[in-house]
Amino acid sequence: MKIDGRHYRTIAPTPEDDAVLVIDQTKLPFSFEFMRLTRIEDAAVAISAMHVRGAPLIGATAAYGVALRMRDDASDASLASAVERLGATRPTAVNLRWALTRMSEKLHNVAPADRAAVAWNEASAICDEDVEQCRLIGVHGRELITRRWRETGRTVNVLTHCNAGWLATVDWGTALSPIYQAHDAGVPVHVFVDETRPRNQGAALSAYELGAHGVPHTVIVDNAGGHLMQHGLVDMCIVGTDRTTATGDVANKIGTYLKALAAKDNGVPFYVALPSSTIDWSIEDGVRGIEIEERSAREVTHLMGRREDGSIATIEVVAPGSPAANPAFDVTPSRLVTALITERGICDATREGLLGLFPERRAAA
Ligand code: MRU
Repeated sequence: MKIDGRHYRTIAPTPEDDAVLVIDQTKLPFSFEFMRLTRIEDAAVAISAMHVRGAPLIGATAAYGVALRMRDDASDASLASAVERLGATRPTAVNLRWALTRMSEKLHNVAPADRAAVAWNEASAICDEDVEQCRLIGVHGRELITRRWRETGRTVNVLTHCNAGWLATVDWGTALSPIYQAHDAGVPVHVFVDETRPRNQGAALSAYELGAHGVPHTVIVDNAGGHLMQHGLVDMCIVGTDRTTATGDVANKIGTYLKALAAKDNGVPFYVALPSSTIDWSIEDGVRGIEIEERSAREVTHLMGRREDGSIATIEVVAPGSPAANPAFDVTPSRLVTALITERGICDATREGLLGLFPERRAAA
């Protein structure tokens, strides 16, 4: 996608192939800066400190982390420890495990002398595939927006939570890809962006990238969605997911479940967009089976923002001494999900729906 008319991916090797550049998302929306990853530890810290975030981008960064490690030491022991180190960075997004498994399997039968080059190419392939999958999610998902526009003859209002845009992937995004593609095709679309406390991925990231692409949007506090839905101001919700079970439950940023409940109560369609790398075929019950990341209480008690003089500041917003808890994700049961939007098309949020699009999984199911 474009910033000031120039196309960027969120992650890419340098032209010299001596490092990996990522957009430092902790600096957005006030400053657009890149971070250079040269060692595996840079990649691990970039993921755990959320310089990069979003399920697909976490997977892509982990893949490059393995590749960087293979340049330093391509032994079996080094490969195993790289997978362990990167796998411990964030627990909920299954793309991390998916990418590390793919890298390991690819490198397992390659001679150590060739591993660095093979790993670099595989990480690059993971990125290219993610771009194409996200593009296709947009192609399928924009039909939902277009159909609604034809039904009503007016601007389609979409509510989204967190950031599942291009900043969360390599390009295009998942939940925002249908919105970009509908907008680019001339369909009038407006987005209600949940601010998404505690880290404000909606206010800081989704609003930033929608604005940079010229998509009309309005930032709302997390608690406003139910009210807007009750008053007929939301045509549909589209969100991303960090892990989708084989039965269609979805783990996404904390607060997604409440939006799905409000959508159900108000008859508003609730769509979840995902590349297949986000499906965890080994889990049936998302509420009991998906590990939910607990992050630092400081993300709740403190906020980062820009002062009127332009300087960046971190301020405390909770009564000093009050404890805070910070579960980073929640699980929306499949019964609240109208449909899943994948790179292969749109399906029911059920085992049969998913297997209809991914029949190669039937044997394992
Ligand atoms: O904690 P984050 O910012 O990594 O959480 C991101 C989300 O919850 C996204 O909605 C999800 O990863 C889907 S991204 C395409």
